[in-house]
Amino acid sequence: MEIGMKDLTKIFVSKDKSEVRAVDNVNVTIPSGKLIGLLGPSGCGKSTTLYLISGLLKQTKGKIFFDEEEVSSMPPEKRGIGLVFQNYALYPHMTVRENIMFPLKNLKFDPDKATKMMHDMATLVGLETMLDRKPKELSGGQQQRVAIARALVKNPRVLLLDEPLSNLDARLRLKTREEIKRIQRETKITTIFVTHDQEEAMSISDEILVMRQGIIQQKGEPQEVYDNPNNLFVAKFLGNPQINVFDGKVKKGKIYVEGMEVEKTDLPDQNLTVGIRPEGFIVDKSNKSPLNFEVDLVETIGRDTTLIIDIPGQEESLLDKKSFKAIVDSQHGIKAGHKVHFKVREGKMHLFDKDGSVIEQ
Ligand SMILES: Nc1ncnc2c1ncn2[C@@H]1O[C@H](COP(=O)(O)OP(=O)(O)O)[C@@H](O)[C@H]1O
Ligand SMILES: [Mg+2]
Repeated sequence: MEIGMKDLTKIFVSKDKSEVRAVDNVNVTIPSGKLIGLLGPSGCGKSTTLYLISGLLKQTKGKIFFDEEEVSSMPPEKRGIGLVFQNYALYPHMTVRENIMFPLKNLKFDPDKATKMMHDMATLVGLETMLDRKPKELSGGQQQRVAIARALVKNPRVLLLDEPLSNLDARLRLKTREEIKRIQRETKITTIFVTHDQEEAMSISDEILVMRQGIIQQKGEPQEVYDNPNNLFVAKFLGNPQINVFDGKVKKGKIYVEGMEVEKTDLPDQNLTVGIRPEGFIVDKSNKSPLNFEVDLVETIGRDTTLIIDIPGQEESLLDKKSFKAIVDSQHGIKAGHKVHFKVREGKMHLFDKDGSVIEQ
């Protein structure tokens, strides 16, 4: 089922009458059967968006659609939502079996049918051998799988996951996110996965929505958004190590990066910000490229070498020193102190105006 949001807005008013636009005029369609990562820094409005979709919060303005049906005023229990939160919120005194069955209790299901549904869900999440355990006898990842089974057992139209992996350690987080991906593929349930972790969102999602201060910044397939960010915020939020940011300008048909001429352009004269991802650089073996720096630090990990380079002329003090990273092929054998000429890969130089919006070339 497709989820549509039209001018969706939630304004919180605090006691001192100050307003927070937690969700600000969101217009977006979540495609049916896909796993969508809703990504953004803490406080940007991700949870509020999920609460509006589930009906636990009422929007200040705007509409929500499930396919063609408007659900903006429908009570939460009628919307057919499965919700999973960061803290598993299982019933501690109940077994896995009872926890998964719980949502079916009020629905007056035939007991045999309910048991079968519980079994199917436990099998789907790989917990069929642990039905008699209590939550405290399970690992964090297993508890979160019980929570997912419990959310799915009523056969909801939408699955909403709010930072479901945040409480897990690094190894379990990886494993559980692969589990979630598999479960979503098998059930084909429309899923929104909320996270502040760009790597997590990029790896699990069919599409990502990047949010900032209640506003959707960009929507698209992870690689597409990574390669073509709409603005500097998105460019910086995606990618580790972060995109390098340089002072640039256009003068008389040429683009300069930190005062070095890099390429020709048709753009008018202006100051701009140039973003180049670490892997966007290549070593110019002919040593002709004007983009020339002395390497300060080198970290080699197998095939890749990360070069850390202080940008000259910037160092007011040691702390203010501006540097950038380039990831190049280890075969170049570059060492600290070497002077390296760089080229920028085709299409890997991102130009942003003074407001941070991308400048199309
Ligand atoms: N019940 C509330 N009352 C007032 N402000 C709230 C309430 N819930 C959330 N907010 C504010 O709305 C913004 C978005 O919050 P939230 O949706 O929880 O962000 P996220 O989930 O992305 O961290 C934040 O500034 C938060 O402080
Ligand atoms: Mg949140």
